[in-house]
Amino acid sequence: MYSSTVLEHLENPRNVGELADATIRGESFNPVCGDRMTLTLRVSAGTISDARFLVDGCPPSIAAGSMLTVLLINSDLDGAERLTPRRLSEELEQLPRHKEHCAILAIDALRSALAQLKLHAAEEI
Ligand code: FES
Repeated sequence: MYSSTVLEHLENPRNVGELADATIRGESFNPVCGDRMTLTLRVSAGTISDARFLVDGCPPSIAAGSMLTVLLINSDLDGAERLTPRRLSEELEQLPRHKEHCAILAIDALRSALAQLKLHAAEEI
């Protein structure tokens, strides 16, 4: 049912928690299933130097948050902007069709964080 990559991230989720010194924080919520995710990022000179996630949700959402942080750490902001739920699902060797929205939950948390970052940047101009 789940790929070996999903199962491996479930057994050993990466980067769980919250960064105390986060530059930015993003949150997402799916009102249909009730799952929610928080993503904290440390950003410096256009690069994401660290990332943590917390999820209150299903097993694939844990794997999606874990893989998302792996993809984000040491990524530049342009690369983060280009991440999509499809790419995240592909990195997990495909989520089951009925669980593809778990990748959307993770990317929504990322989009929320990136939107906050842009808001803060605009306020500083
Ligand atoms: Fe809704 Fe996983 S079941 S995010």
